[in-house]
Amino acid sequence: MLFSKKIAFIGSGNMGEALLGGLLKAKLTNPENIIATDIYDERLEHIKKKWGVQTSKNNMETAKVSDILVLCVKPQTIKGVLEELKQVIRDDQLVISILAGITTQTINHALASQNPVIRVMPNIPAVVDEAASGICLGEFANDTDKEIAKKIFNAVGEVEVVLESQMDVITGLSGSGPAYIYMIIEALTDGGVMMGLPRHTATRLATQTVLGSAKLVRETGIHPAVLKDQVTTPGGTAISAIKELESSGLRPMLIRAVETATNKSRQLSELLEKKNNAGGKQK
Ligand SMILES: NC(=O)c1ccc[n+]([C@@H]2O[C@H](COP(=O)([O-])OP(=O)(O)OC[C@H]3O[C@@H](n4cnc5c(N)ncnc54)[C@H](OP(=O)(O)O)[C@@H]3O)[C@@H](O)[C@H]2O)c1
Repeated sequence: MLFSKKIAFIGSGNMGEALLGGLLKAKLTNPENIIATDIYDERLEHIKKKWGVQTSKNNMETAKVSDILVLCVKPQTIKGVLEELKQVIRDDQLVISILAGITTQTINHALASQNPVIRVMPNIPAVVDEAASGICLGEFANDTDKEIAKKIFNAVGEVEVVLESQMDVITGLSGSGPAYIYMIIEALTDGGVMMGLPRHTATRLATQTVLGSAKLVRETGIHPAVLKDQVTTPGGTAISAIKELESSGLRPMLIRAVETATNKSRQLSELLEKKNNAGGKQK
């Protein structure tokens, strides 16, 4: 399905490179089918050398010869990019956007088109093919478009299809989530250091504990509470630590973190919407 399509990555920063690299590593397409654009020569040279794809500094010429446009620039620069794309976009092109806070409606409005638009919120573990991505469909996108987007983002991790009205929650949970987990790894490491471990040993053990625990939940499908019960022996060490975590409010703290980040994402999206001059209701 993807093999015959020309895919343009507009913006080849961290995420653009992670995505095109993921597609190539998963052998979902060939380098000849990918064009990466950016404003920096050094960035394009790096991308070309590492992945063997075509590169360009010209978004309009790139869009003209592409079937799928994956928008990977920063939200602040999208207005200019969409103004360029508006001049050359064809009805049959699928637009996929990973820009935080930019709605599918804003994109259709800015392009003055009814192109299918899919919005995605991936996260930074995409660079190691372990992203958690939420995707939603714009008004004119259909199931085929959805399957194409799922294929692209499955190449770099897990995908959940959600409503566009839930995209701010995705930002608050998994988009910003890596920051919370890095803090947890750092804090566990400090605990190990405080109790006498060398820092590099504590870091490796804390990291592997987070990774292994997550993998066990994902691969067995067992509820985390059941897994927790399995590692707490009566009167033992884990239950003593759990008492401490509960009395320090670990659960409500993490719930509030997701709530706060979601609300912040909503505020920022509204500001961006105003700036991009497009109001209206989300799907
Ligand atoms: N990183 C994450 O964890 C994450 C997670 C979810 C979603 N996202 C979304 O992913 C998008 C990209 O993030 P990123 O971390 O990959 O950013 P990034 O590393 O800054 O990559 C964006 C690249 O596009 C370039 N660019 C700017 N204007 C351009 C134009 N007109 N045409 C072509 N290229 C242009 C940028 O140059 P300049 O640096 O000069 O702008 C930069 O090299 C953002 O919209 C963000 O909301 C990121």
